[in-house]
Parts: sequence; structure tokens; C-alpha cells
Amino acid sequence: MHSPRPPHPRADRPRADRPRPDRPRADRPAPERAPAVAVTPARHVADVVLRGLLEGDAFLQPTLASEAARAQLSDLDRRLATELVLGVSRLWGRLCAELNELLREDVAKLPPDVQRAIVLGHYQLTRMDIPPHAAVNESVELTKRASPWAMGIVNRVLKTVAEEGAPALTKLKGDELLSAELSHPRWWIRSQLRTRSLEEVKALAHANNRPAPLSVRPHLGHTPSALRAALEAEGATVTPARWAAGAFYLDHPHPFSAPSFRAGLWYAQDEGSQLVAELLGARPGDRVWDVCAAPGGKSLALVEAVGEGGWVVATEVHERKAADLRERLAPYAWAAALQHDAGAGAPEGLTPPGGRPFAGEFDAVLLDAPCSALGVVRRHPEVRWRRTPADVQRAAKRQMALLHSVVLSVRVGGHLVYSVCTDTPEETTEVVSQLLLAYPELSLAAPPGDPARWAPLMRGGALSINPAEHNTDGFYAVRLVRMR
Ligand SMILES: C[S@@+](CC[C@H](N)C(=O)[O-])C[C@H]1O[C@@H](n2cnc3c(N)ncnc32)[C@H](O)[C@@H]1O
Repeated sequence: MHSPRPPHPRADRPRADRPRPDRPRADRPAPERAPAVAVTPARHVADVVLRGLLEGDAFLQPTLASEAARAQLSDLDRRLATELVLGVSRLWGRLCAELNELLREDVAKLPPDVQRAIVLGHYQLTRMDIPPHAAVNESVELTKRASPWAMGIVNRVLKTVAEEGAPALTKLKGDELLSAELSHPRWWIRSQLRTRSLEEVKALAHANNRPAPLSVRPHLGHTPSALRAALEAEGATVTPARWAAGAFYLDHPHPFSAPSFRAGLWYAQDEGSQLVAELLGARPGDRVWDVCAAPGGKSLALVEAVGEGGWVVATEVHERKAADLRERLAPYAWAAALQHDAGAGAPEGLTPPGGRPFAGEFDAVLLDAPCSALGVVRRHPEVRWRRTPADVQRAAKRQMALLHSVVLSVRVGGHLVYSVCTDTPEETTEVVSQLLLAYPELSLAAPPGDPARWAPLMRGGALSINPAEHNTDGFYAVRLVRMR
């Protein structure tokens, strides 16, 4: 019987009572050992970052950036570490199932440091173009650091993979097999099957396992055509985004060290995220509350939409994130970034620019709520392994509470967008049904502008987009109008 959750890569010491499959004993011949080699900095960084794969709130990408900086990785090593962290995180479930074909017992029963070492080696041997001896020897070396007794197992299994390739999955059946093939947890598959066909679920899982494109927007004051020219002059391939106005997909050799980025011509934002901000339909002169605003991508789009005659109040509960948001919005006099808990309603004592009167109600409110984030697993593949159905329930409760706190801050005739970067029914349609029951003064509103443009993006009256159908991150967003 295999564990319903994939094995844990955290660097715990093995418990004394934990069975150690294949552990050498006096009655067995000593296993063949690989020659000692140093672990290269990229693999060391990948191993350190992957300790956080299954637990915690912090996304792996920022940890990777800080560990790479600390290790002073070259560009080449940084790319290798990134590929290892993201690739292993995406395929963790599948890679473990493949290794189980070659181990006497479940890989989950190995200590976490050995799990990481063997999975890292297996990924390099089967999904990358890496010399086999480097993949095998460095994994054995990683094992040696904390669990030298397991070096023989890692060496034997990885040498078999190097010779024979990835094993076929013969030990699993039914939904365990599907979960391993798609490298998504079983509960996620069951939840998806409530609203999608099996073929759609498979397509979504495969899309989640592919890297996300880099989509970008010009900063206010730079036109899309000028931005495009600047990027092409740097050798980038620039393709207009499919859905969001003024956005591009970018294929750039060094996007974040490019002169265009350093000069503040553009910022990165998933196309789906851009569509959510557009859905609010904020107009020049509007007063807008961006309730859960950090890191601020949507705030920037709202700042642009309302223009200098408007006002954007962007709130964020976390101190550090609020400070970063303040810095990001600092160039715009008509935007205010505040550390504030939206659970207490709108911030009080606000004064719009120019001292104009403000009665406390906004023309438009965006609640881009904290959520299970299962729509962004292309960028943050670890999310799928950390979430549980209980997390989804908790997130839905929190979303409902936030909605109760903010909903009546919209003026009569104004709009509220509720959005999440996930697609669980609990956090999307079920929250909105409850909201509409509780507030008869709200009703569903059409998206702003040309309905034909939005039609392929809408389902059941809400923006509903995903990596498989739209090549965007997964978002759900509904636009509501306050009638009275
Ligand atoms: C989905 S993210 C927002 C992304 C943002 N709208 C953007 O486009 O860049 C949710 C944010 O809400 C913040 N948050 C969570 N609870 C909050 C609360 N009670 N009040 C204000 N912000 C909150 C989180 O810290 C997180 O930064």
C-alpha cells in the first residue's frame, strides 16, 4: 500500500523506529560505493531549497533566489538549480512512483535527505540532458552527508535508471496510478472531477506540469509599441498576449537583468492576473479599493485605469509586504498603500488626493482574496503537495469573512470583483452563491466592454480561466454590481 501523500523531502533525521529498507546489515555484503565527489553548488542549492517542498507558506522561488544569491551561483548554475527545483517539485509524485518500482520498500520510508538525493538524481537521469555519472555520483555524495548507510541504495537504483531509463509504473492501479502519472495528489483529482471530465482533468494536470510563459505589461507612461521596440532591440522575442490588452509574452535571454527591466519599462504579471484587474472595469476618475493588494500587480493596472483624476487605496495586512507595496506605488500620487487588516472593513480617516470629500464608499472594490492558490501551480509547483482539503475549507471561510467586511464599501451602482487564483468549487461558485443569498442588493454584472472578447474566458457568468484552455494561470473572478 502506498502513502496517499507523496514522501517527505524535509531534512529530518530518521527516527530510530523508522524502518530503513535496504539498510546494510552485517549479514549482507557491503554495497558498492560510488567514488567521492564534491556536490556542485547548483545541486547543493536545489537540495537545500527542496527541504521546503511539502510544508510551510513560503513559495520555493523566493527561497531559491536567496539561496542562489547566498551561494553566489553563476547564471548557468542558477538556471540548473532552477530547473532542478521546479522540475523535481512538479514531478515529485511521479518520480517517487517510478523509484518505487526499483526499491524494495516505499521511497517514503527513506529519510527525507535520502528521498531528495535519489529523486534529484532520478530527475536528472530521466528528464534532463546531464552526464549520468554526474547525476549518480552527486546524489550519492548528497546521501553521504547525512545518511551514509543509504549510499549503496542510491548508487544501485540510480545506476539501474542510468542503464535502463525510467521504469514503467506497474505497481499502482486506479486513482493511485492516475495520481502518479499526472503528478498531482489524489484529492486534487477527485475535487477536479466534480466539475471537469477525466480528459479535462488530465489536460489541466499536464498544463500545470509545463513551465509558465513570461507575460509582461508596460509600466504606466510606456506604450506597448515602444516597449516592444525596446525589448526587440535587446534580442527578445515578443509576442502579443492572446487575451489581455497591451500585454506581451516574452522570450528573453536575461529578462530581469535587461536594461529595459532595470529602466522600469515593464513588469511581469501573468495574463490571467491582468484580466482580473480589467474585469473590475475601473474608469478614469474612479475611486477604487484594492483590498488584498500585495505584491501589487493588479494595483498598478488599477492606477493606470483610474488615471491622475482617480484614487486607488491599496491595503495589505502583512507589514513587510505593505512596505514593498508602498514602494511600488510611490511614483503615483493618486495611489495610497496602507498596512491594514481588511477583516475590519475599509480603513478609516482616508483623504483622497486634493482633499476632495470622501463619504467612505468606493466606485469599485477588488477583493483578490487569499486562497488555496491551486491555479498557480505552473509557477509554484510545490503548492499541490502542501494543500489538503481542510485548507480549502479554511480558505473558503476566510474568503467569506473578508467579503462580509468589504462588500458594503461599494457605492450603490458601483462594482465589486471577487477573485481567487484557484478553482475549487468551495472557494469560487460556493462562496459567490452564499454571498448573493446574504446580500440581495448585489447581482451579477456583465464584464466591461465588448462581450465577444470576454466570451471565451467566461463560465457561468464568471471569468474562469486555466493553463490548459487559456495558457494563463488559473483564476476565477466574478463581477458584481450593488443595486441599492
Ligand atoms: C492573492 S494575494 C493578492 C495579490 C495581489 N492582488 C496582486 O495582484 O498582486 C492576497 C494578499 O492578501 C493579503 N491578505 C490576507 N489577508 C488579508 C487581510 N485580512 N487584509 C488585507 N490583506 C490581506 C495577503 O497577505 C496577500 O498578500
